[in-house]
Amino acid sequence: GVLAVLYRNFANNPDAEIRKWLVFDGPVDAIWIENMNTVLDDNRKLCLMSGEIIQMSPNMNLIFEPMDLDVASPATVSRCGMIFLEPELMGWEPIFRSWLQELPEAFGEEVIKAIEDLVNWFIPPLIEFVRYKAHETTPTQDQNLVRSCLRILRVLIKSLEDDKSKLELPAKEIITIIDGAFMFSITWSVCASVTTEYRKACNDCVKKLLLGDLDTGVKPLKKIVFPDRGTIYDHIYFPVENKWKNWNELIDKDQKIPRDASPQVVIITTSDKMKYSWLLETFVKNRIPTLFVGPTGTGKSIYIQNVLQNVLDKDKFTTIEVGFSAQTSAVQTQGIIDGKLDKRRKDHFGPRFGMECVIHVDDLNMPKKEFYGAQPPVELLRQFLDQGGWFDLADNKHPFRNIIDTMLVCSMGPPGGGKTFITPRMQRHFNIVAFTDVDDHVLTYIFKTILAWWFDSRGFSQDVARMDEKIVAGTMKIYTNIQ
Ligand SMILES: Nc1ncnc2c1ncn2[C@@H]1O[C@H](COP(=O)(O)OP(=O)(O)O)[C@@H](O)[C@H]1O
Ligand SMILES: [Mg+2]
Repeated sequence: GVLAVLYRNFANNPDAEIRKWLVFDGPVDAIWIENMNTVLDDNRKLCLMSGEIIQMSPNMNLIFEPMDLDVASPATVSRCGMIFLEPELMGWEPIFRSWLQELPEAFGEEVIKAIEDLVNWFIPPLIEFVRYKAHETTPTQDQNLVRSCLRILRVLIKSLEDDKSKLELPAKEIITIIDGAFMFSITWSVCASVTTEYRKACNDCVKKLLLGDLDTGVKPLKKIVFPDRGTIYDHIYFPVENKWKNWNELIDKDQKIPRDASPQVVIITTSDKMKYSWLLETFVKNRIPTLFVGPTGTGKSIYIQNVLQNVLDKDKFTTIEVGFSAQTSAVQTQGIIDGKLDKRRKDHFGPRFGMECVIHVDDLNMPKKEFYGAQPPVELLRQFLDQGGWFDLADNKHPFRNIIDTMLVCSMGPPGGGKTFITPRMQRHFNIVAFTDVDDHVLTYIFKTILAWWFDSRGFSQDVARMDEKIVAGTMKIYTNIQ
């Protein structure tokens, strides 16, 4: 396999001056690594099934990079030197520091200082809230939340750069815009992974930081304009206009459902649909890997499919749909994706030149975990995110296939039951947005709209059409009772 070929290449290699590292990036368990025991001890020999024995060259070394050693055997652990790295050691500040370096040069000291103040004002207390006072749909890490926030903020700042005159505004005005952009960014990152029940509390926490809190005597650092009606989740910020709008205002009031559509594919625009579609479109256009997490039936799959197929420009984006199930294997996953990408140049694969490809993996956390807890299809996708590709399985030289102009959008149900917790080493790559339960009044609105359209387009008499409200209310009642 891949390992034997790479190992043999390294071992044969004549340029003895150069040190070579074979990196095993992924979970370690007691079974597969058993074969490596002869390599790891003083013999330094790899014994293959075929009977071939390959001696490691003196300039060659191995590195294993797993998340933990929970299921490694003492035989492995005792043969390796250990370096232990904890997320707490790094914290999120270095991520923020390096992010600051990438800001437009037009931003002077005053603007940078204002951004630092915002980050220090909101991020530590909000992370503390998420960690200790709320539940997340899927457990995140601090670095992950901060990075997500900064990515969104960068996108909003980019819209200023696209409109050059905006960057020439006086620092004070730029700061006002960044204030708004930051509030929006933090809402859809640090505040976006908590479950439905904690949305209100999370909103209150932000509002207290923003307006000050009489109980604790905490005072706001400065005044930031923010809509006072509704919650933080109800509004979108437009940096170029420096304007907040309620998501509802963006809904096209007289949307028409085509008469001949079939009811299963009709999507009724709600404010949730607006939010999630806007976020996905923005993330895809800015190449931000996205993970939508939420209960079944909240529209994750259809909203994503709708954006990928109907909203994005067909001349620019192609999509690959991959649905995961308990039985999905890494080989199948690689087969589906490799089969749909073209060869662009030597060892580089991707969509047709000039296009971008979006891979949508639905139900990311469905694949069954192996006995020792690894999830090969998820690890394969992680290899793509970490290393930009994977090894060719069909070619017996196993060259690395670089996958270019391609990004990943995933959705999954909250871990629990048949749905697994996926490794944090995978999850950390994504901007995670939790879908909330659909309110009863929103469900009623969706069903009533579909029913009214059905009665109208199929020529039902007024006597029947008038019953729409009762039919929906009755159906909802039965559903809640049996739920
Ligand atoms: N806004 C909406 N308008 C019409 N139907 C919807 C809407 N949101 C969800 N649905 C319906 O609810 C069902 C569940 O949606 P789905 O995308 O499969 O949810 P999930 O992937 O979150 O489990 C689908 O049959 C879909 O048609
Ligand atoms: Mg789904």
